[in-house]
Amino acid sequence: MERVMTKDGSETLFNPSYRDYYHSTAGALAEARIKYIEPCRIKELAAISEVSLLDIGFGLGYNLGVALDEIMSAGGKLLAVSLEMDEDILSKLSGMDPKITSYHAIKKLAQKRYYSDEHANLRLIMGNAVQTIKEINMKFDAVFHDPFAPTRNPELWTKEFFRDAKRLMKPRAVLATYSCARHVRDNLRWAGFLVKDGPVFGRRGPSTIAINKQVAQLPE
Ligand SMILES: C[S@@+](CC[C@H](N)C(=O)[O-])C[C@H]1O[C@@H](n2cnc3c(N)ncnc32)[C@H](O)[C@@H]1O
Repeated sequence: MERVMTKDGSETLFNPSYRDYYHSTAGALAEARIKYIEPCRIKELAAISEVSLLDIGFGLGYNLGVALDEIMSAGGKLLAVSLEMDEDILSKLSGMDPKITSYHAIKKLAQKRYYSDEHANLRLIMGNAVQTIKEINMKFDAVFHDPFAPTRNPELWTKEFFRDAKRLMKPRAVLATYSCARHVRDNLRWAGFLVKDGPVFGRRGPSTIAINKQVAQLPE
């Protein structure tokens, strides 16, 4: 896979089968922070209690690693389940060196499918997330939804997949995803989410933040 330097100085890879990058070429680590960590309020959650995170599309583990850094600097703890189906991408992690303090933990997770220390309890489930998501039996504070583009990776952008993700979310949890495509947002609404614009980064449109519609209508 071709290595590509992104505009914030962090490297990503290009996947020739999907004809897509693993991260925004505007900045791989900046994307993790701006489109996932900040909208899901990881720092704020870490100040209150342990943070539980569902990481859909583990890839190179950048989103997860940046989240873990944030939580460690707040003195908190991360409980995360990551979903991935490509064994090949896991073998690429050893050659990557992003500016993520906790990346050694992410590399170990990719090797062993499990990692645990005083700040993290991480599990990586291999297989098609359409099926593996149905086997999870816990509730999360945040969902990082980061497959390849909807046109190239459609099975993870369906109504049914979003319904399965919502089933695993705590009432006030946030799902963040980078696409704002009309059919993606329609599918999220069908699944019972209230959809809002997320930050704009690296493309013209905003990303998407989705929260439980019923809970959003209740007072705080
Ligand atoms: C855009 S990359 C994720 C980048 C990653 N979040 C990171 O921070 O490095 C999308 C990932 O989703 C995975 N993927 C695509 N379809 C999948 C499926 N049906 N089940 C599980 N993983 C899938 C791909 O193998 C790829 O690693």
